Amino acid sequence: MKNLVVYYSWTGNTEIAAKELSGLIGGDLKRIEEAKPRSSFGRSACSAIFGLKSKIKPLDFALNGYDSVFLCGPVWASRTTPAINAFLERADFSGKKVYLFVTQADDHEPQAVFHSLTQRVEKHGGKVAGCFFIQTVMKTTLKPEQAREPLEKWVERIQ
Ligand SMILES: Cc1cc2nc3c(=O)[nH]c(=O)nc-3n(C[C@H](O)[C@H](O)[C@H](O)COP(=O)(O)O)c2cc1C
Repeated sequence: MKNLVVYYSWTGNTEIAAKELSGLIGGDLKRIEEAKPRSSFGRSACSAIFGLKSKIKPLDFALNGYDSVFLCGPVWASRTTPAINAFLERADFSGKKVYLFVTQADDHEPQAVFHSLTQRVEKHGGKVAGCFFIQTVMKTTLKPEQAREPLEKWVERIQ
């Protein structure tokens, strides 16, 4: 089984968790990067509310060749981010198991985010096999050890 962990992160939390996750599952780690640097919290939240897609840098990887894809990103305004929206628009998940992982400040399971991601993954041929989230603290960077324990438990459950 070949695993890919692909993530978008603005303030670094999802990146830290995605790195831990890739170590735990022995998967390749790839980043989705926006073409323009982001600076405004308000504009970012609005762009998420409106479901916008940002311009992302060309990807240096393809999904074919992977059996499972772990798609990771933060929650913005109870929605997915413009970078993840852009990635999902062109991803081909045919025949792949897809696991959804998000970080967010809230402690409630982001069901609407998982639902919205699942719909788009399925539209592009994938099968969602699991969802997980980690709560983070705004303006505080997640520590790798804080991410490791919950991720270890999740990985045990799904493997
Ligand atoms: C623009 C913006 C909007 C956010 N909206 C939410 C939200 O609606 N619910 C929530 O729980 N957290 C929200 N957060 C917090 C992030 O989801 C959280 O800090 C996440 O871990 C950030 O991930 P990153 O560091 O990988 O970018 C928001 C953060 C930003 C920057």
